[in-house]
Amino acid sequence: MSNPEFHPGLADVPAAESAVSFIDGKRARLEYRGIAVETLAKDSFFEESAWLLLKGVLPRQKELADFDHGLIKERTIHFRLLDALKCLPESGHPMSALQAGTAALAMFHPMPDVHNAQANWEAVIRLIAKLPTIVAAFHRLRQGHEAIPPREDLGHAANFYYMLFGKEPSPAVTKVLDACLVLHAEHTMNASTFSARVTGSTLANPYTVIASAIGTLTGPLHGGANEEVLDMLDEIGAPEKAKSWLDDAVATKKKIMGFGHRVYKVKDPRASVLQDLAEKVFAETSKPVCYLTATSLEAAAIPVLGPKGIYPNVDFYSGSVYQNLGIPKDLFTPIFAIARVVGWLSHWLEQIGNNRIYRPEQIYIGQRDQHYVPLEQRP
Ligand code: SDX
Repeated sequence: MSNPEFHPGLADVPAAESAVSFIDGKRARLEYRGIAVETLAKDSFFEESAWLLLKGVLPRQKELADFDHGLIKERTIHFRLLDALKCLPESGHPMSALQAGTAALAMFHPMPDVHNAQANWEAVIRLIAKLPTIVAAFHRLRQGHEAIPPREDLGHAANFYYMLFGKEPSPAVTKVLDACLVLHAEHTMNASTFSARVTGSTLANPYTVIASAIGTLTGPLHGGANEEVLDMLDEIGAPEKAKSWLDDAVATKKKIMGFGHRVYKVKDPRASVLQDLAEKVFAETSKPVCYLTATSLEAAAIPVLGPKGIYPNVDFYSGSVYQNLGIPKDLFTPIFAIARVVGWLSHWLEQIGNNRIYRPEQIYIGQRDQHYVPLEQRP
């Protein structure tokens, strides 16, 4: 019998007190500072929702204008950082480039400590503003093109799209991409946010905190799942093959990527919003096979996995939306990161505002009181 105090994966164990967001896993409810995420995805936009998460209240008009201006001013990256990105292998994963570039920001913006609120806020602005530029620059460089400098006349989502492709997105594409950023911005004590809080609790600088969180997000059980979902849908190949594929997966106890969640035991509310966005995006074009396969897989999975509380999560439909926007698969998780950086920073500010270094216990299951045997006496 394992020790009743031990909860693998810290399931159901509170790791902090937080006011940033709230989830009701049984009622498919996600609130950012008390406001339903569906409402924010529809009526708000990334910059405003970012302020809400960071400050706890919706911004007044002048606050939002100043915040927006600050983000725009900080979008560019130092030419040496751009040179460093040029030296990275084109075949490397963009998440590795993002993590390396983010960690390097600490070298361009040294912070003696994290006790200066103004300096902390400046770092918050820099990180939200520069991560999209690092992602877009690496994507351009790995194709053999020059990086596209950010524009000051576009919003956060539109400017990211512009830096990726060199053209302005339509208002419809901008709204979809912006809604995706809002939906991915925060999600209570997920693994990467926990990483941010643990690293932040040692009073490490915020650039290092975010680099730590980016590393955690890359895993296929977490942020990396959105890319894996597309691979899975491509492997299934057609909607009519979804049921038989599922039967094999269940029989071999294979994890269905984009399904299941530690907290949601019903369909992730973000998956529902992303599905609505997908329907909107595909209304003007024919529905791609990957989306039709996804809906067919969901229909086949519900009667089988639903009773176990396993439903689509945020990663199940996001890839179909991004692919339709022309975004390559290995940029799906970096997009997750450029949104979630707001949630990580909101939790970082909360952590250093009332800090105690994380140092949990363990249950020792090894041997005790062993003797040292000199090498020449060992067989
Ligand atoms: C994100 O935490 C967050 O909030 C994360 C996130 C965020 O916004 O930050 O929401 C983003 O990471 C979403 C999740 C993306 N990952 C995936 O889609 C990968 C596939 N999902 C699973 O690996 C799993 O559901 C997790 C990792 C998401 C949750 O893992 P848990 O809570 O530790 O659950 P578990 O692995 O212990 O599974 C419990 C049971 C097992 O069955 P039994 O062994 O008890 O019989 O449910 C089964 C699992 O086999 N199960 C699945 C399944 N997920 C759980 N079976 C098939 N397919 C799945 N996807």
